[in-house]
Amino acid sequence: MKLKNNSTVGIVGLGLMGGSIAASLLINGQKVVAVAPIVSDIDSAAPNRIRHYLEECLREGLTKKTHDELVANITYTSDYNELHKCWLVMECVIENLAIKKEVYKRIEECVSDNVIITSNTSAMPISMLQNHCRVPERFFGMHWAEPSYTSYFLEIICGEKSPIEIGEQLCDIAKQWGKEPTLVRKDIRGFITNRIMYAMYREAFNLVENGYATIIDIDNACKNDGGRWMAFCGLFRYMDLTGLKAYHAVMKDLFPELSNQTTVPKLIDDIAKADGNGISNGIGFYSYTPEEAKKWEETFEEFSFDLHRLSSKYTEKISEISIEKTLE
Ligand SMILES: NC(=O)c1ccc[n+]([C@@H]2O[C@H](COP(=O)([O-])OP(=O)(O)OC[C@H]3O[C@@H](n4cnc5c(N)ncnc54)[C@H](O)[C@@H]3O)[C@@H](O)[C@H]2O)c1
Repeated sequence: MKLKNNSTVGIVGLGLMGGSIAASLLINGQKVVAVAPIVSDIDSAAPNRIRHYLEECLREGLTKKTHDELVANITYTSDYNELHKCWLVMECVIENLAIKKEVYKRIEECVSDNVIITSNTSAMPISMLQNHCRVPERFFGMHWAEPSYTSYFLEIICGEKSPIEIGEQLCDIAKQWGKEPTLVRKDIRGFITNRIMYAMYREAFNLVENGYATIIDIDNACKNDGGRWMAFCGLFRYMDLTGLKAYHAVMKDLFPELSNQTTVPKLIDDIAKADGNGISNGIGFYSYTPEEAKKWEETFEEFSFDLHRLSSKYTEKISEISIEKTLE
């Protein structure tokens, strides 16, 4: 089947990610039908947030169009029927299976059978989610990063019943949206980056809880080591760049000593049970006043734009070096 991209994409769920994804699509020339299952989201919260993102994208040179020109391409609604004009509908509601299932039912009542439906789930298996759809083969994971409009990241995940050729076509379309997509050909819990990141989180908790280093020291080490080169080339290329035999030697001795704990670490469990949620309520691994929390959010946004500029420069340079050839 050849996908028919008519440039109109539906988003259901206008929270943090739904708004950010909408901005990313708008600056890349798509029309968006933005469906808010919680009607109050479209009173002001989501449109205001999207306005802010679009203004920042113009200021930072990610688009030449003004907010007014771009919002002409987005329709805010709480009526699922408006999705009938979309070739692709992205579910972006909270990580709750019962709610996601209800949303798929509502979407499938309004779109034809060849419309692709995706989920932005962080960790629910796509093979499981697709079985809650009337037409499971049209269902894929489409996992975005925050902020979506500055990130090159996009994981496209095939469930057991999703054809890989359609996944490949979705990747081609994602490239037109300025992404460098990863196709996950076989569904696996956590997909690619979350599996890798959570292996890292587990080891970080292991080191703190056993007194090897403090939270601040671990954050500094990650920021200044992996944080520098990962944005340039990823894991495998970095081993090539720095001599893979050393990694081979270290793996033999280090792997048996890494944490393989299967329970949630006490450190995060205690904070979560005390209702800590990080900067959104000021209680996390660090503590924040409302002013500090706001500054962290603003500074992260500024950093994301700077990183986007730097990554664009090196993505171009790298594409000139050689055609991708890997041993597999
Ligand atoms: N926040 C991130 O950085 C991030 C990154 C990748 C993936 N995700 C995933 O994206 C999805 C959305 O996350 P978010 O961060 O935007 O969450 P959010 O809490 O900001 O927004 C969730 C949205 O879900 C909808 N919703 C809430 N209750 C509902 C209900 N009862 N019925 C129908 N819709 C309801 C609302 O539109 C709400 O705005 C989740 O599956 C999450 O795991 C989040």
